[in-house]
Amino acid sequence: MKSYPDHKGNRISRRDLLQRGASAGALSLLPAGLRAATEARVPLTARNASFQLAPSGYAATGIWGYDGGAPGPEIRVAQGGRVSRRLVNELPQGTSVHWHGIRIDNAMDGVAGLTQQSVAPGDTFDYDFVVPDAGTYWYHSHDRSWEQVARGLHGALIVEEAEVPDVDREEVLILDDWLLNPETAQIDDSFDHPMAMSHAGRIGNYVTTNARFDFSRPVRRHERLRLRLINASNARIFTLQLNGLTGWTVALDAMPLPAPVPVEQGLILGPAQRVDLIVDITAGEGETAYLLRRGGDNRPVSQAAFPVSGSASRARRAPPAPLPPNPRMSAPDLAAARRLRLVMAGGAMGRMDSALLGGERIGFRQLAASGRFWAFNEMAEMTQEPLGDLSLGEPVRLQIVNDTVFPHAMHLHGMHFRQVRADGAASPMRDTLLVAAGETREIAFIADNPGDWLFHCHMLSHAASGMMTWVRVT
Ligand code: C2O
Ligand code: CU
Repeated sequence: MKSYPDHKGNRISRRDLLQRGASAGALSLLPAGLRAATEARVPLTARNASFQLAPSGYAATGIWGYDGGAPGPEIRVAQGGRVSRRLVNELPQGTSVHWHGIRIDNAMDGVAGLTQQSVAPGDTFDYDFVVPDAGTYWYHSHDRSWEQVARGLHGALIVEEAEVPDVDREEVLILDDWLLNPETAQIDDSFDHPMAMSHAGRIGNYVTTNARFDFSRPVRRHERLRLRLINASNARIFTLQLNGLTGWTVALDAMPLPAPVPVEQGLILGPAQRVDLIVDITAGEGETAYLLRRGGDNRPVSQAAFPVSGSASRARRAPPAPLPPNPRMSAPDLAAARRLRLVMAGGAMGRMDSALLGGERIGFRQLAASGRFWAFNEMAEMTQEPLGDLSLGEPVRLQIVNDTVFPHAMHLHGMHFRQVRADGAASPMRDTLLVAAGETREIAFIADNPGDWLFHCHMLSHAASGMMTWVRVT
């Protein structure tokens, strides 16, 4: 791939250049009012489509995708800029778009049933919001998400730093898995199956990167790449490893780390989590560098391959500099924080024998018969009252007790949090935290974004069957 030095001497690819030209250059010539009006008309159409997802020889797979793609179109915007899209619903059911991880205006958060009404088939909805923080985000359906995300309704949302990091190029890698019928290559439509709901969630049998099972990109030795990894699967926890690549973690769930952390052990990426890596190609010419995933029976398999061709462009470089920090990253005052507690119970092989549903205490079997397998603080559904009624700006500590035999990926909308560690050290800001079976963790955040914010498990079948609550910030 061709790349050119920019004004700071960073090498940028032709594709990057064209994208920047198209997004920043052309529109900035228009007056602001006209620009907003023009952008508001950019459609994002949720619709049926089909493409060759399974290896050749199989039939094309019918999907639901934004603009007919899975993943949908990459949305790329400068930090502090606006995203304006008109969702056009051409699906046979209602839908909405959630912009995962953006510290967004609540009205634009896209949660059908909480922050907006579901957008009916044939209807539209205009999303228009500012992106305060740089980083790697994604957007996905937030209406029957356990079906709609699994059918393909998701895409990358990239917010660029004003100061571009010194890399040769970047790759956005959307990791996903699909549950395909092995005969027909069509998406298995047993979305509401009790097995997926009550166990580890809907786990696919076909793992892809950017919808390819054999994702590969040619590289040159000593090239430096930024990899933006996004786990868009419904429930799969990826355990990743580098081979022929030396890497550093520079951001988690979009938020920059104060210093790059060398990747040594396996990298764990739970559903909805993101990690930004800076990697140097250390494999030799004619070799292949890999992002590996731990596959069945623990064998490493390729998640992304980087065949090395061409001679070294230069010698190995010094370790990368940290990404510039985002605004509002100060740690909450733990001593002054309001304390909340969330006990997660239920699931197969769990100890929950009853929970509240529709105001009544109901036994586990009966809950299961109503499609409810989990409870948060004994409630097997969203409550009228929020888990926390928070004052704008107040610090909060939230203890999360996982009294189940499954891990859960807990996601807070609208605000990032930090894990409270026993030694008091500040841990990185995230928006989604994996809580292992039987484990208790505590998170802390500043309730600095007004609105009603969902807090739920991102194993989407779990969210659908009881693992959902919310907080209110006023
Ligand atoms: Cu990725 Cu409630 O969302
Ligand atoms: Cu869960």
